[in-house]
Amino acid sequence: MSLFTESVHTLATTEYTAEQRAAWAPTDPDMDGWRQRFQECQTLVAEEEGIPLGFISFEPDGHIDLLYTAPDAARQGVASALLGEAVRQLSASGSRTFYTEASLIAAPFFKRHGFEVIEEQRVFRGGVGFRRYLMRKESA
Ligand SMILES: CC(C)(COP(=O)(O)OP(=O)(O)OC[C@H]1O[C@@H](n2cnc3c(N)ncnc32)[C@H](O)[C@@H]1OP(=O)(O)O)[C@@H](O)C(=O)NCCC(=O)NCCS
Repeated sequence: MSLFTESVHTLATTEYTAEQRAAWAPTDPDMDGWRQRFQECQTLVAEEEGIPLGFISFEPDGHIDLLYTAPDAARQGVASALLGEAVRQLSASGSRTFYTEASLIAAPFFKRHGFEVIEEQRVFRGGVGFRRYLMRKESA
């Protein structure tokens, strides 16, 4: 969980306030909630010499639920490799459409990978509002 927390509090500072980041990645995470979420997803972890560099979680219907890169590994292709493998696995099991709720930080990343914005959304976490984009990609 520290990768997730560090990623949000380091890589998301340009688009989200400290209050938003604290609501998104609380320093005291709800571990039961996380266990439940991971049980419902397939998760891939990128690591180097045992050190986690990033992870992606996705669901059989093509939903990319979570994608986080460690701050020290940012802009080195980690998330691209994870997304590529997730799409490969989903495609192998028949998915033709992939979708995600992208943060303002992640939207350029997903656009680069062929996702299009379907709609802008406003959601609340712990009473704090966030903007994000529903994005979708059809397989070629
Ligand atoms: C979004 C995130 C997963 C990208 O991870 P990454 O491993 O740095 O991404 P990659 O190195 O594979 O990036 C590939 C391309 O995506 C685009 N991209 C990635 N991060 C970007 C950013 N912050 N701003 C603009 N474009 C970006 C670029 O085109 C990049 O290619 P380039 O580095 O050659 O310019 C990472 O910034 C992150 O964890 N952010 C904080 C948490 C978050 O918002 N997660 C998504 C929740 S929906």
